[in-house]
Amino acid sequence: MEIVILDGVDAVDRTAADIVERVVRADPAANPGRSAGSTAVLGLATGSTPVGTYRELARRHREDGLSFARCRAFLLDEYIGLSKTAEQSYFSFIRQNFVDHVDLDDAAVFSPDGDADDIAAEAQRYDAAIAAAGGIDVQILGIGTDGHIGFNEPGSSLRSRTRVKTLTEQTRVDNARFFDSPEDVPHHVLTQGLGTIDEARHLVLIATGESKADAVAAAVEGPLTAFCPASTIQWHPHATVLLDEAAASSLALAEYYRYAYANKPRWQHL
Ligand code: GLP
Repeated sequence: MEIVILDGVDAVDRTAADIVERVVRADPAANPGRSAGSTAVLGLATGSTPVGTYRELARRHREDGLSFARCRAFLLDEYIGLSKTAEQSYFSFIRQNFVDHVDLDDAAVFSPDGDADDIAAEAQRYDAAIAAAGGIDVQILGIGTDGHIGFNEPGSSLRSRTRVKTLTEQTRVDNARFFDSPEDVPHHVLTQGLGTIDEARHLVLIATGESKADAVAAAVEGPLTAFCPASTIQWHPHATVLLDEAAASSLALAEYYRYAYANKPRWQHL
């Protein structure tokens, strides 16, 4: 796990975009398990935090010719009971904030269907679709104030697969800003499990702002525990945590993380 403390949100967005760009531009031949003709499989998160990263990637698409045309993408989660086309669905969110601004094929962007008749079957189908795509190369993650990733709330089993979860009141309150009224926030969601997320080849957790500081500290310096689902990134072989100063403000070893990053060997990328 590599913890990188950066000077401001823009630097976080640029660094996350650098990681995604490197994967997107990588030679497909270097990635076994990939279907012929396709390049990166991206894992996309919703929420406000990664929006700046998506904006930066869209800028690189417009100005630097970064193409997503042969990529596929999978979302982490979706609300249950909202139609795909509802403005607050994550299906819509990722299109408004990323897909519509780049050349990623809309049909190659997948998300769990929270409106499926058979939710349990949909959950299994979603895990199978990720596996059939050869797995996720780089998974962007945000973090909830209660330490959730995707919508894996505290108590989520560490090996869980895509399934239904019930949101905590805290998460419903945190997400109410996207809805007309707090009561409109759904109670149930379909989310990739912690075991599903753990299979992505590279996890990139992004957090900015003081409201995330305690959750970040619990995730990276606390025990590995279902009580803080984001702590599962501690046993991933390739996890990068990108923080601004405010999100890093509760870390005990902040000085060490700064020192390690400042002295990173030039040949070693994130
Ligand atoms: C939602 C999403 C998470 C996201 C979290 C934090 O609950 N399911 O994937 O990380 O919100 O969102 P924000 O980045 O808006 O703080």
